[in-house]
Amino acid sequence: MGYLIGLDIGTSAVKALLLKSNGSVVGSVTEEYPLFSPRPGWSEQNPEDMWKASVDAIRGVMTKYSVSPDSVLGLGLSGQMHSSVFLDEQYEVIRPAILWNDVRTSAQCRFIEQTVDPETLLEEVCNPALEGFTLPKLLWLREHEPENYQKLRWLVLPKDYVRFRLTGNIAMEVSDAAGMLMMNVRSQVWSKPILESFDIPDYILPPIVGSSEVAGTITPEVANVTGLKVGTPVVGGGADNACGAVGSGVVIPGRGMVSLGTSGVLLAHLAEPKLITSGTVHMFNSCLPGEFYMMGVMLSAGLSLNWLRSQFGNEKSYAQMTEEAAAVPPASRGLVFLPYLTGERTPHGDANARGSFVGLSATHGQAEMTRAVLEGVAFGLCDSVELLRSAGWNGTSLRALGGGARSPLWKEIIASATGLVLEEINIDEGPALGAAILAGVGSGAYASVLQASDSIIKVERAVEPNKEWMKVYVELYQVYKDLYPALKNSFDRLVTFA
Ligand code: XUL
Repeated sequence: MGYLIGLDIGTSAVKALLLKSNGSVVGSVTEEYPLFSPRPGWSEQNPEDMWKASVDAIRGVMTKYSVSPDSVLGLGLSGQMHSSVFLDEQYEVIRPAILWNDVRTSAQCRFIEQTVDPETLLEEVCNPALEGFTLPKLLWLREHEPENYQKLRWLVLPKDYVRFRLTGNIAMEVSDAAGMLMMNVRSQVWSKPILESFDIPDYILPPIVGSSEVAGTITPEVANVTGLKVGTPVVGGGADNACGAVGSGVVIPGRGMVSLGTSGVLLAHLAEPKLITSGTVHMFNSCLPGEFYMMGVMLSAGLSLNWLRSQFGNEKSYAQMTEEAAAVPPASRGLVFLPYLTGERTPHGDANARGSFVGLSATHGQAEMTRAVLEGVAFGLCDSVELLRSAGWNGTSLRALGGGARSPLWKEIIASATGLVLEEINIDEGPALGAAILAGVGSGAYASVLQASDSIIKVERAVEPNKEWMKVYVELYQVYKDLYPALKNSFDRLVTFA
């Protein structure tokens, strides 16, 4: 038996998870780093901060659990999707990374839609042009920072950048490459028609590697600073949601997951890709070779609750806030929250959409507002459930993960709003666990991703929809659905004052 390390490069921190190859979690170390928003709608991070935090987190687990370097069989990475790390000829970072939740690229999305007809875009990359994706960021760089674009030699994603620093090998892993809008999701090669249409040189895109394929080994310099052994295999890894699926056993068609982190994700595993015309459902490669998943992404799920908490001075813990919200009846005494604090991807694909409390009265206080936020996010997930259902998903349950899934109230609200059973799993370590499992497959400790994930992850408890709340939410959801179209024009006008 040996150890596997899963390293998740998140939006606020890096987490290094130590897994025994028998499938038991030893523990983890998390190292935070800052996020910068130099202008409204912009979201940036320094790749060097990600790198330093990665080294500290790996060294942290090695020392905290007194791991012998020889016993580490492999390391896998997962990370925030779409976030662009721009490198020059010397592999130096050119400018801060532009993140997945940055919405500066609406003009570039419209340009993509005008240049390539929607059918070709869907045929080639299986996805619509959305602000968070990588191609719009690249076009933004070319238009707004031509001096930086001139220097560009490699375009990589956060976990692929960290893998490059760990191993010296530049590569892009397939489930993350899927979110670039430049890879043909069905054939898993960079799309010539898309690159030609936008005059993008193909040399900036690294070779594509598989999720559990060994994509390099630990260099002597990195061994020195992390405590790992020189030559330790590092696998491709996977996009955070793809790894979250592996780390929650969502590896069989019909299974789905809901992840409540900064963003809110509804994901369903698929054996075959689908061309979905709804405009905001994502279709990406999973970490199982030749398999896929479809997904709806809300930009501000946990972020909405986090925002509300900070507006009240961070005085209460999340547990206190949700305890108070549990005493408020469903429908929050007539208060509805639209969770569009940073625009929205699924279902509206609208960077101008904004958060709103509708129905606010003098009788409402913090507890009502908290419950309305939890319910508003649940309704946002209902929108994604409807879209996934119309694309053929027929699941009846979702595995719940992420920080928000620790709240029993939130799970009950989501179960009651969507009518789905929310399942709690035995290990909730999220994407880092998926990344460690991939390392186990690549290093030969496990036979396959399916076999490892399905045998390590088990459903322990289920949260059923609350019948009384369901009745209320069926009606309230219709109110919620009417609000965005009613407010859209106001949102478009309001952003001009921001
Ligand atoms: C997925 C997406 C987010 C990030 C969060 O398309 O943009 O879920 O991956 O890290």
